[in-house]
Amino acid sequence: MATRSAAPNRWALLIVAATCMLVAACTDPPTGPRVESTGPAEHGACGMSGPTLAELAERRGKTIGTAYRSTFAETDPCYGIVAATEFNSLTTEIGTMMNTIEPAPGVFDFREADAVADVAARQHRDFQIHALIWDPLDQPQWAIVPPAIRALPPPQRHQLMTDTVTAILHRYAGRASTVTVVNEAFDQMGHLQPTAWWQTTRSDQYIFDAFRAARLADPHAQLFYNDHSAETHSDKSNAIYDMVKRLHDTTVDVDVDGTTESLPLIDGIGFQAHMLGGEGQQPSVPDMAANLQRFADLGLKIRFTELDVRIPVVNGTATAADLDRQRDVFRTMTTLCLDQPQCTGITLWGFTDKRSWITDYPDTFSGYGAATPLTTNYQRKPARDGIAEALQEN
Ligand code: XIL
Repeated sequence: MATRSAAPNRWALLIVAATCMLVAACTDPPTGPRVESTGPAEHGACGMSGPTLAELAERRGKTIGTAYRSTFAETDPCYGIVAATEFNSLTTEIGTMMNTIEPAPGVFDFREADAVADVAARQHRDFQIHALIWDPLDQPQWAIVPPAIRALPPPQRHQLMTDTVTAILHRYAGRASTVTVVNEAFDQMGHLQPTAWWQTTRSDQYIFDAFRAARLADPHAQLFYNDHSAETHSDKSNAIYDMVKRLHDTTVDVDVDGTTESLPLIDGIGFQAHMLGGEGQQPSVPDMAANLQRFADLGLKIRFTELDVRIPVVNGTATAADLDRQRDVFRTMTTLCLDQPQCTGITLWGFTDKRSWITDYPDTFSGYGAATPLTTNYQRKPARDGIAEALQEN
């Protein structure tokens, strides 16, 4: 399905911006120098000016999106304004993770996912669903798979998996352009991880079953496999390549608007792109470009799905050299996508250092932070210029 893109609803933004100025700015004022605003009034209220990233990306035929949490916008209007203005695509940050959307077997809570879908629809933004089938074994404290679901016997857990995929895709059919069906199935050596989902078939069969359920539930949605640390050639990206090739070679007959069509199980591959911005920590750009190309050659779409660039920080503060290198990494990743015709766009995993999983989990990323293009006060960092510069290059 084509991604939707259009200018945001200016009136809605203006109303929220007024609220921002009257209410939020009192509790959480955007600080720092105000740049002369060349855009609508609401931009300046939250530290923005000039063409938005969304406008620049649309000229290049790409989406530029962000992970989005509706509850943040409730208490921090600039979060909502900047997200809906700077970006033309919103992805559920937690709304479609199993512990949010199905806290107990067969018990659904669509509130957060609905809220993100509603914001995207109101602002005429693309809407994407993230990480339906995922069990991050390295982060057990997140409890993404609710305990009562993990405790189900494997056959019932497998049935729940396909039922869950079906229920969520039915609900958002016609609204979600893109869905991460399975996330992080492989370890760094390219072995399938023994997740709660793998245990249901003890092979990659569960992945094929999840994608088949998704395709049957919404034949229009773009179905993606997603993983981290696979941006270059490696044992991991080789294993992913082998699997997505077989997924793409496998077809299923579906009813598309009254006509039976034979469609591949998968449309695309998402590279999370959680990058490092410290000195000497960047992967080879030609290696990344060649790796993207081999997936593109399979006929798959490509996205950077969770781009952020964490840099060394001391008490939350980074050096100018690291901020500059961070700008270069954001620019490089943006250019990689622009240079790859199969790349549909980029999603940032948060856009302000006030709200980022990197800073939410300081123990995981000890000594690193400041991973997004805007400061905690929504001021532009060099990183934001890096994205904009790449989008404006020919
Ligand atoms: C993170 C979210 O940002 C957090 O809010 C949540 O508590 C845990 O998950 N890889 C992924 C994302 O695929 O879904 C993760 O998002 C970050 C790592």
